[in-house]
Amino acid sequence: MCGIVGYIGPKTATPLLIEGLKRLEYRGYDSAGIATMNGAGLESRKAKGKISMLEAVVEGSPVHGTVGIAHTRWATHGAPNECNAHPHHDCTGTIAVVHNGIIENYGALRQMLIQQGHKFESETDTEVLAHLIEAAMDDDPLEDAVIDALHLVEGTYGIAVISSRDPDKIVAARKGSPLLLGLGENEFYVASDVAAILEHTRQVVYLDDGEMGVLTRSGYEVLDLSARRVRKGVSRIDWDLDQIEKGGFDHFMLKEIFEQPQTIQNTMRGRLVVDEGFSKLGGLNLTRQQMLDLDRIIITACGTSWHSGIIGELYIEELARIPVEVEYASEFRYRNPIVTKNTLCVVISQSGETADTLAAMREAKRRGARTLGLVNVVGSTMAREDDGGIYLHAGPEIGVASTKAFTSQVIALALLTLKLARLREMSVVKGRQIAQAMLELPDQIQSILDRASEIEAIAEQFKNATNFLYLGRGYNFPVALEGALKLKEISYIHAEGYPAAEMKHGPIALIDENMPVVFIAPHDSVFDKIVSNIQEVKARGGKVIAITSQKEPVLEKLIDYEIRIPQTEDMLYPILSVIPLQLLAYYVAVKRGLNVDQPRNLAKSVTVE
Ligand code: G6P
Repeated sequence: MCGIVGYIGPKTATPLLIEGLKRLEYRGYDSAGIATMNGAGLESRKAKGKISMLEAVVEGSPVHGTVGIAHTRWATHGAPNECNAHPHHDCTGTIAVVHNGIIENYGALRQMLIQQGHKFESETDTEVLAHLIEAAMDDDPLEDAVIDALHLVEGTYGIAVISSRDPDKIVAARKGSPLLLGLGENEFYVASDVAAILEHTRQVVYLDDGEMGVLTRSGYEVLDLSARRVRKGVSRIDWDLDQIEKGGFDHFMLKEIFEQPQTIQNTMRGRLVVDEGFSKLGGLNLTRQQMLDLDRIIITACGTSWHSGIIGELYIEELARIPVEVEYASEFRYRNPIVTKNTLCVVISQSGETADTLAAMREAKRRGARTLGLVNVVGSTMAREDDGGIYLHAGPEIGVASTKAFTSQVIALALLTLKLARLREMSVVKGRQIAQAMLELPDQIQSILDRASEIEAIAEQFKNATNFLYLGRGYNFPVALEGALKLKEISYIHAEGYPAAEMKHGPIALIDENMPVVFIAPHDSVFDKIVSNIQEVKARGGKVIAITSQKEPVLEKLIDYEIRIPQTEDMLYPILSVIPLQLLAYYVAVKRGLNVDQPRNLAKSVTVE
């Protein structure tokens, strides 16, 4: 999500750090900052917005020195403003920290530190690290204090720390957030992403979780969190910059599809209470009584986010028994909707800026509903204006066609459902069963991704098709809509998603031997019903591509291509079944030679009506 770069060596640090940050801009950012050691003490500068804003600040008011750290922020805790930008400092101003990741227990740590007399300046989780290091700092080396601090921290981090009390040094540490050391000629770098330092060195040491790098002017060493030395190999980077930005993938979309095991984990992290079959959602801002009093939920969104909303409707009605209505935001805003004080309006948006969704949220608010935002971009307009929120924590999504935001939205809706349902009539046993199945999803997604080449081969067969039909039932009907949308968006092939049984009321007229029909047919409670629909297509010569979850003898003669996904709870199948459809759309578009990341006529964030 965020980006880190640090430098120690004979050269002036600032230009190297600013240039490194620019190389990280592609990852998304909302603010940036830099801290250097000028001989007498620490100097730091921050700016909201692009790196060029920070550059202007530093030009007007330079920082000096040959040791420094810098950061681009993509907010997770606290609004994207100058104060929340990194580096963060301790009370004495002698320690500077940049951090990627999320400190899950920062609330408790912050309380503890405030009681000890520490003064906080920002709303970020990161600032607790600076104060923890301050509390642990004595006459020992900086790395000892960092180790003490990290032992108190739960969550994920990639950090770089400098201190004027141990000036010729950068300490870096990693758990769950990438970090590497760059080895130059008498100079050393730390970076979250090799793109930041590629111009200066191709020799790197990748830190693993639980490891720490200590960089000085004369060399580097890698320690574990018990201060024992770890022997590490040096790797050589052969990729060019473009390859690196995309993580070695050909397109951002493919990279984002492959990130999903990690991104859904990030959405769940610290929120799922498995033993209780419950979820902790800190930003909901609803009392227990307000949750019990809810008599209606309106979900409103656009595009892919609207599709996850339909899944949310099915979840909440089935398990929490609260009536739900899903509305296109563009329609909702101009209707005369029935909204009571016990109505919750849930808005779903990757960007948090889509004009129609924002207007729908404002309209619901004006009519007295409480609003809850399921938003990816922290500090976006929706996130600022909603009454409560669940951030997706999926990281910046750059491909215009949404992929990882969708699966994170569905996870967030499942978390919300667990919360509402367990407060009402759902048993702990049922809640636990769902929560346990949710924990398995990252590995299950990975197992589908590992077989991407099978889907690529299917794409080769259908790359010249002119129409596609996507059919699903129950929880997988919205997935059919999403699969069709993905294909339309990036391959420009006409595609329709339909409830499988509804096909006979129209689309069946389209079926002939040239029509590929994608059935989402995992072994769930409506499987037998969908088999009949597959028979109807086959009888008319359609080409059947089926997503299944186990060997189904009944389907053997009916399907032309099978894509197998792992078994899960019925309600969680969409998170697995959508993955092959994202890949299918991707490979078809690539084989047609199209610009996958920036399809014609589409925008990532539609801020006009
Ligand atoms: C645009 C994008 C879609 C996205 C939709 C809603 O149409 O191309 O991928 O689903 O907007 O965006 P949001 O940011 O509100 O989720």
